Amino acid sequence: AAIEKGGYDHFMLKEIFEQPQTIYDCLRGRLDADKGMITMSGIEKYAEQIMNANRIMIVACGTSWHAGLVAEYIFEELCRIPVEVEYASEFRYRNPVVHQGDVIIAISQSGETADTLVAIENAKENGAIILGVVNAVGSSISRLSHAGAYTHAGPEIGVASTKAFTAQLAVLTMIALKIAHKKGTISIEKYSILCKELAEVPDKVAEVLKLDDSIRLLAEKYKDAYDFLYLGRGYNFPIALEGALKLKEISYIHAEGYPAAEMKHGPIALVDEHLPVVFVATKDAYHEKVVSNMQEIKARKGKVIAVITEGDTVTPSIADDVIILPPAHEIIAPMLSVIPLQLLAYHIGVAKGYDVDKPRNLAKSVTVE
Ligand code: G6P
Repeated sequence: AAIEKGGYDHFMLKEIFEQPQTIYDCLRGRLDADKGMITMSGIEKYAEQIMNANRIMIVACGTSWHAGLVAEYIFEELCRIPVEVEYASEFRYRNPVVHQGDVIIAISQSGETADTLVAIENAKENGAIILGVVNAVGSSISRLSHAGAYTHAGPEIGVASTKAFTAQLAVLTMIALKIAHKKGTISIEKYSILCKELAEVPDKVAEVLKLDDSIRLLAEKYKDAYDFLYLGRGYNFPIALEGALKLKEISYIHAEGYPAAEMKHGPIALVDEHLPVVFVATKDAYHEKVVSNMQEIKARKGKVIAVITEGDTVTPSIADDVIILPPAHEIIAPMLSVIPLQLLAYHIGVAKGYDVDKPRNLAKSVTVE
């Protein structure tokens, strides 16, 4: 088993560290940043339908649902198509409005999640076009889909999803760029900048992974907290949700993810000197707003751990601890900002002595409802 783990203590850590390679594998053969070309045959077949869709529905569960939320922001921004992101378990039972020709994207690592599978089965019967963003080749969801794109992250063993998530983001970003380019809702400049930035993600993720030791020390410092709050805005809001989910799954510490501004409508009541608050606060259009949310937490004596971008000179003077990431376009940043949150959850789980690869009560794939 030690060999399978490639020298790592756990599959989860191995899979976190595989991400430069898995994201590279996901982009390879699809993205040609120099030529500004994205080739995805499955998507090309339905490009007209996607382009002209009145809306796109995304159906998923768990971590895959968080990838869907990031995709919502990206598709709406780049393609100017309204997107709804649905929990598969809710979607399937609430008699959803699905019309002939509606575009539904199903996101799933395993391709076997029962709720997601049945949700798209029903939608397909109503005439929807089903696109699968799936990791497991030949899985039920991939077979049921009309077309799609595999994430090519390789087998994921750790129950808490890590490398599948970043590969989902990479695939969804490529689809959005491709459609936006074809539809003309993105400028040529922005398109080529984003293609180039996407191609740089594997190297930047490798940079971020060098923070592993310092994140282990942070984990030691905060491992005895009873609760954590994770806050972010915009593209980083779903990353706050994902960071909180990782911590819950692996360390059994209660954690809540929230949009940073919405925090004033509830979670702020929990803030005292015992509450660590993780801010996903990389440089983007909302950065100043996030910084003011951070000040509100500090004013109530909360502990602030901030994930920020290199060159940010303001945040380090406010936050108790900072995790500094390489610069990236705000659309690309989630693929980087999630990495330290995966590592933080991992190291806290390990520090508490838990079996991070097989957390209690959780299954890798939920094939019953
Ligand atoms: C389970 C796993 C999660 C996963 C979710 C959805 O809860 O523990 O890691 O995100 O199912 O699974 P899927 O295979 O459909 O992405």
